[in-house]
Amino acid sequence: MNTLSIPKFENLYIPTVNKKGFMLTNIDALTRLFIDEAIHPKHHSLFSLDVGAAYGIATREVLRKGGSIFANDTDPTHLAAIESEFLEGKNLKFLVGDIRHDIHLPISSISCALFSRVFHFFYGEEIITCLKKVHQWLIPGGKIFVSNETPYFGTTKRFIPLYEQRKKNNHPWPGLIESLDYFCPEKAPFVDLPVHLFDEDLCYTVAKESGFTITDLFYMNRNGFFPENALYDGRESIAFIAQKT
Ligand SMILES: C[S@@+](CC[C@H](N)C(=O)[O-])C[C@H]1O[C@@H](n2cnc3c(N)ncnc32)[C@H](O)[C@@H]1O
Repeated sequence: MNTLSIPKFENLYIPTVNKKGFMLTNIDALTRLFIDEAIHPKHHSLFSLDVGAAYGIATREVLRKGGSIFANDTDPTHLAAIESEFLEGKNLKFLVGDIRHDIHLPISSISCALFSRVFHFFYGEEIITCLKKVHQWLIPGGKIFVSNETPYFGTTKRFIPLYEQRKKNNHPWPGLIESLDYFCPEKAPFVDLPVHLFDEDLCYTVAKESGFTITDLFYMNRNGFFPENALYDGRESIAFIAQKT
């Protein structure tokens, strides 16, 4: 696909270069809460962590507000875009690599971590292993901020019947999509499999298994954040905040 033919997605989505979906252009409620935590004076300039930062929608805002942050992404092209506004230095460190295997931080060294729309690309067990690792990096009482799309998401609405059937059958990972046939044709070229859609049960399972207690869980209506054909019924995304216990 050449640059001229890249769809604009109502200026709400910026495609990733590695088929990992899209970065949002507007800061949503979950990311806003993460930013408030990351810049809170109680953390005395401790670093926060933005996992799957892409072109830096959250990272840039933390830096604009005077916070310190590790920006992680598998793709260095994404992180390089942040350098148009902020250079690596005292308050910003780039961590290029797969959070599952390549990234290592000291124990009890970060205040909070954001996983905005990144666990979609993980199998269930990988989510738990990754959260256990991040649990060690967080200070006591440190928080994770996690958001993901649900099966009630316009882009994959063809998947809803299979998801609902799997729920009835107590499938262990009912939101796991392993075929691009469930995607609308306009979005499929921008996505690599698997794609893991989240529901409340999955949020509680991964948090509990990795040693976190959920303090807040809510759906996010994506009107104004996602293009029209990615909307469904106001339950497009689910978010939770959880604390290290
Ligand atoms: C859907 S985008 C989300 C971007 C941004 N956080 C947002 O909410 O708009 C997912 C991003 O996560 C990154 N990513 C996917 N898997 C990753 C992994 N295992 N480790 C680090 N980054 C990853 C991708 O490169 C991509 O930039």
